[in-house]
Amino acid sequence: MTEPQLHVLDDPGAAIASLLAAEARRGGSIVLTGGSTPSRAYELAALAEPDWRRAEVWWGDERCVPPSDERSNYGLARRTLLDRVERPPRVHRIRGELPAPEAADEYDTELVGIVLDLLLLGLGPDGHVASLFPGTPQLDERSRLVTSGPAGLEPFLDRVTLTVPALLSARRIVVLATGSGKADAVRRAFSGEIDQQIPGSLLRTGEAPLDVYLDPAAAASL
Ligand code: 6PG
Repeated sequence: MTEPQLHVLDDPGAAIASLLAAEARRGGSIVLTGGSTPSRAYELAALAEPDWRRAEVWWGDERCVPPSDERSNYGLARRTLLDRVERPPRVHRIRGELPAPEAADEYDTELVGIVLDLLLLGLGPDGHVASLFPGTPQLDERSRLVTSGPAGLEPFLDRVTLTVPALLSARRIVVLATGSGKADAVRRAFSGEIDQQIPGSLLRTGEAPLDVYLDPAAAASL
């Protein structure tokens, strides 16, 4: 079990950017998240460290759309980070253009034996992390590193996602959540009962250090 370390900051995205840049310098394997929150962190990380050639970049989840689709998590990282660094990392993209089970099988194979150094996650207002949604069978997957299934929140697209064991295998887990809309999920995930109805709480069941970066609005219910 691990106790989350909470960091309440006016600009948590800037702190995440520094963590990403430092890991890129170390040449680590970095797992990116999707959603809208991390854009600023990615842009600042590209400014902080232009040379990502020693790093490897992975994704915690992906929507099943082509990489050119504006809803693609890969596309988000490409626009805000990968296209902005001088020396890009090695990129391991989840192929969202494939049928979800096929993309999951492919990524599951690619991840075998990989040590994930820094796992960045967002937190949904329902408490989901990656594309592991409350009360879904994907949360019970223990033998695979990657699985797939329907989304529990918009965008309602099939998803490919790392499983709970894969997330907990990371050497370090960092969560970024901002805004009052996340306050209840933050309270339940990081100070409530550990429960599959709040998937973010399952991050506390591993051994990896867990750091949660919040703005004051997201921390308001703690
Ligand atoms: C996704 C993300 C997802 C995201 C949360 C929070 O594919 O949507 O990986 O897990 O981190 O839904 O999203 P926002 O940052 O948009 O609130």
